[in-house]
Formats: sequence, structure tokens, C-alpha cells
Amino acid sequence: MSDLRFPFVLHGGDYNPEQFPESVWDEDVELMKKAGVNVVTLPVFGWGNIQPDEDIWTFEWLDRVIEKLHAGGIKICLATATAATPPWVDQKYPDILRVDSEGRKVSHGGRHTFCPHSKNFRRLVISLATKMAERYGDHPALVVWHISNEYGNTCYCEKCSAAFREWLKARYGTLQEVNFRWNTAFWGQTYTDWSQIEAPVSLGQRTFQGLILDYDRFQSESILDSYRAERDVVRAISPNIPITTNLMGTFKTLDYHSWAKELDIVSWDCYPPRSAAPEWIAFRHALMRGLKEGEPWMLMEQTPSQQNWQKYNSLKRPGVMRLWSYQAMAHGADTIMYFQWRRSPGAAEMFHGAVVEHAASSEARVFKEVAVLGRELESLGDATIGGRVEAQVALLFDWENWWAVEYSIGPSGDLKYLPATLAPYKALFDAGITVDVVSPEADLSKYKLVIAPVLKMVKTGVAEKLEQFTRAGGTFVATYFTGIVDGTDRAFPNGYPGPLSDLLGIWVEETDALSPEEKNSALFSGENGHIFECGLLCDRIQLRGAEALATYMQEFYAGEPVVTVNRFGEGSAYYVGSALEESGAAWLYADIAAKAGVEPVDLGPAIKGVEVVLRGGLYYVLNHCRTEQSVVLREGRFSDLLSGQVYEGEITLPAYAVAILRPEA
Ligand code: GLA
Ligand code: ZN
Repeated sequence: MSDLRFPFVLHGGDYNPEQFPESVWDEDVELMKKAGVNVVTLPVFGWGNIQPDEDIWTFEWLDRVIEKLHAGGIKICLATATAATPPWVDQKYPDILRVDSEGRKVSHGGRHTFCPHSKNFRRLVISLATKMAERYGDHPALVVWHISNEYGNTCYCEKCSAAFREWLKARYGTLQEVNFRWNTAFWGQTYTDWSQIEAPVSLGQRTFQGLILDYDRFQSESILDSYRAERDVVRAISPNIPITTNLMGTFKTLDYHSWAKELDIVSWDCYPPRSAAPEWIAFRHALMRGLKEGEPWMLMEQTPSQQNWQKYNSLKRPGVMRLWSYQAMAHGADTIMYFQWRRSPGAAEMFHGAVVEHAASSEARVFKEVAVLGRELESLGDATIGGRVEAQVALLFDWENWWAVEYSIGPSGDLKYLPATLAPYKALFDAGITVDVVSPEADLSKYKLVIAPVLKMVKTGVAEKLEQFTRAGGTFVATYFTGIVDGTDRAFPNGYPGPLSDLLGIWVEETDALSPEEKNSALFSGENGHIFECGLLCDRIQLRGAEALATYMQEFYAGEPVVTVNRFGEGSAYYVGSALEESGAAWLYADIAAKAGVEPVDLGPAIKGVEVVLRGGLYYVLNHCRTEQSVVLREGRFSDLLSGQVYEGEITLPAYAVAILRPEA
């Protein structure tokens, strides 16, 4: 089962009825109907309420909640309830409690406190997931399984160390190979026995990037094993219901590309910070969409109003929740859900936004906004469901590369992967060009332009693939600090950019690191003679077949290339050897895209602050500005699925407004 296809948008959220008396449950169902809510997720943190002791099961309350919801026509996203261990579990089986990266064993409390190699934990969650699946696995209201919740915490305990050694044996075969890969000859650290290898706690062995990279991989896989164990029992008993777990966008700890292979459908929780720019959100949606090469996904959580875990938890301004919901749909979501349905009466999340306030009034602003959106989504029926986002550009994103870039000791402490990947994304976003964010393993043949920002780690097979893409007429762009190491963080012996040297036609001889105050400039050749500031890193490039498009203006390397292009087969490969200022990136990437034959979304000229995405033949027009904006439309008539109006020539959108335009035949 790999699909969650309803002829309507699923709209709802996390529901925690166990925190309220039963009398509230009936009110909840009535309010849900009023809000156009047709799905809820539960009981995410209900373990202790379902199994108050090892041999005591109290499912009856959950049976009654589920029946009430079902009678009200509400569908269920059923959690396996394993995300927070009840007190008795940790008291009885202390081996479950994880050890953090400082080497401290956690005490009972909070959530995600388990060690992925605890056999007791594994046995208990399998038993709970099995019971859940047996009891509800063919319930008519059940639409999707939600395993655990927001996996993420890693463990550094003795059990994990032992399992790590086994993992290394399977990966490398011999200790000699491990020593070679990690270059342990450095500082005389050669391991002479497997038992000497330990989890890299903060006061332990963190000298070897290869080791910490492998430990991150091992933990990501170990936690994934925990997910898989629950998934497998659920799938065996409830084979017709798709299975997911909620991801967290640019969450560094887990390699979501390998995780996504194990999910039937991708779901994620989107919590933009206070003043997130539209492309901040769009980038993460694109990343989550790319996990399954463009398949529709679920927005599992967003706050309807405010969060509680930022320092200043601003309210979403009127219209913003609706705007961000449609932005998610524009980027591939077929499901819009909130955390949370009703505010907790106490404890850590009582101030987190909810559809229903403590006052439980359907007159509250947030409730009314949710209800308006609910009605609107209902009226869309299946018009938006299942559509694919159209993109001609792929940006490569790789978790292991992220770890490798940020574990680098040198050349610059300011080098961070996310800003480096967001820079080209933003440049194209502002030019009205839609970009997919995908793994280097993805099928690239459908794209015209592929951008690999800061691809320090080039794994086996990637260079050949990029060569093939470019040879066949594609345009490839790499940036500074690329092609440095292989998959085990060993430097390529023949210089940078390693296996991409032929494709890019250059040799990067040295890299200068600049402080934030220091800048160089890039002078572009051609009539316009553009000059842009650049900084962070400045690669000193020797041409090996490529030509220089821009040269440095300062320092002893003034006059040397900073941006190059190499003709390769039918295509072109660019190298951008320094971080260009924003206007420079905007100009350069728009220019490269135009030369690559990439077109902006063809609704009309791009306007700053108004995002347009073409998904499933529909143009989502999203006004992210606080002010009214007008978009000039290309020739033709367009009907707005939301307002029912037909537009020709121009469409004017008030602040935060949205239109979903269908071209009229
Ligand atoms: C996460 C969790 C939820 C809740 C929200 C609060 O996304 O999955 O249970 O804690 O954060 O923002
Ligand atoms: Zn552990």
C-alpha cells in the first residue's frame, strides 16, 4: 500500500482526548464538524493511558473515542502511541533510558528517551503496536498509521557502542580497513582491537570525522530499525493502510533519504520561525516532496496560531495560516493538519496554539479561520488531489554531506550547509522558477539544470551520473568546497574537485577563508561587466579546460577565475568558487537558468513576494506580502477554484491572499 488517495483534502490535527473528561469528547466531535475537520491523529502520547502496567491493557476509553469520531464522520490517523514511555516502563527497565552525547544517562521524563538498542524497549513497543493493529487495524475510520512521533534522539550507551562495532564489521570487514578509512594513523590512534572503538561522546574520540560520520549513520539506521520493527508488525496485521511517521524537514540527525524508502507516504511537521521568509518554507516543502521523488505528502502538523517553544511566540496574523496551508498544497500536500486540536489544560504545551482554545468557543478568531479553511477545502473536492509539481531544476541535498561539511575542522567555522543550499534556491525562487530538492541518487534525467551546493562529499557513482546528465545536454552547477572527500571522509588524492574535475574542467588549488568583514569581488566578463561582492570561501582555481566567467578583484589572486564554465558533451558545467552576495547569486543563477532553457512558471512575470507554483495543471498564486499585489497574467482566461471568479489580464490579491487558477480551455 503506497498511497493515501481520498477524493478530498484531509483536514484535521492531533487530538489528545485522554487529557479531558468524556463529556468534552462529544463537544469535540461537534466542533470538528463545525470546523470542517475530517481527520484526527491519536493517541500519539497515549501509551501510559492504554497500558498502565505491563499486563494491564485499558483500551476501552480509546474504543469509545474512536466510535464517537467514526459516528461523526471523522477519519483516523492512528498513532502506535510509543513516543513517550510511561513512568513504570523506565522504572522497570532502566536499560531503555538513553545516554546523551555528553555521556549522561537520562532519567525518566519527556519523550524520545529510548536507546534504539534496548531489547526491552523493542519488545514493549512491538507488543503495543501489535495490540493497536489487532484492535483497530481494519476499523473503517482508519486511514493512515502514524508510527511513534518525530523520531530523533541519538544514544551513546554501552549497548550502542557494542552494536556500532558490529555495524562497522559489517560495513568494513576488517579493522585494518576501518583504520584506513578513518585515517587513524593520525596522532597514532590505530585501533588494534575492535573493543577499543567506542561511541564518540563529546569528551571522547571526536578527532576522526570518519568515525563521527559513521556513528551518525549508524544511529540514523538504528532509530530507523526501531521504526521498521513497529511498521512491520502493523503492516502484517493491517496491510491495506499506508504507514508514515512524521518528519521534521531540515532535521539534521536522521538521513531522511534512507528513511523515506521505508515510509508509504511522507508526512512532516512545519513550524517556521517567527519571521520565516516564504522561501524558507518552500525550500523545506520541496525537500520533503523530493524524498519520494514528487509524490504527494501530508502536512502532519502546523500550528493554527502560535508555538510555545520559541522565545517569542507570535500569533500567525489573520490569513497566514490559510496562506501557509495552501503553500503546502502548492508544494504537494494533500493533507492539512494542525498540532493541536484542543489546548491542554496544563503541562508543557498548554500555551501551544490549538484549533480550540481553553475557552472552547467557536467564536474565537483561530477557530473561525480554521472553519473557513475547512469549508473551502471541502468545496475543492478532489480538484487538487494527486497533482505533481512541475520543476525543471533540481537542487541536490544530502544528509551525509551535511554532516561531513559541518564536521570539517577548517577551512571556515562559518561554513554551514543550509544557508549554502538555500542561496541558489532563493535566487531561483525570486525569479519565479520552481526547484525540486532531491537526493544525488534521484533520477536527474527529467531536469534541465542540476545544482549541487557545497558537495564536499562525492559518493561512488555520483560523478559518473552528473557527467552523463551534462553530456546529454544538461546544465550542472557546483559551488565552492566541492569534491573534497569520498563517502568515508577521506580526501581525494588527485586534488579538488576530485571526481568532478573532468566535468568542471578545473583544479581547485587552494581555498582562502574570509571573516564576515572581509570581502573580495567577482568581476564578470561581458559587456555589462557586473561586479558582485563575494566571501566566506575563495577557491583559487586553475583552468583545466573550463573558461573563466568572472575573476577575483582583490588579494594576491586578483585576476584569477572565481566563476567558470566548462562545455561537456552537449551540456555545460559551472563552478562558483566563492559565496556571492545575494544580488550576485540572483543575477548569476537567473542567467544560468535562462541559458539552460529553464522557464519560470508561465503564468506571468514573477513579482517579489508572490509565489506561483504549477501543480497538477493548477497555478497556486500565493501573496506572501502584507500588502495587496497584482500579477499580470499571460494571455488566456483563468478561473479561481477558491473564489469562483474568472480572471483575464491581471489578478489582484489582498495581503496574504491565495488563488488557485485553472486555465480555461
Ligand atoms: C512537535 C510534536 C508535537 C508537539 C509540537 C509542538 O511537532 O510532534 O507533539 O509537541 O511539536 O510544536
Ligand atoms: Zn544506546
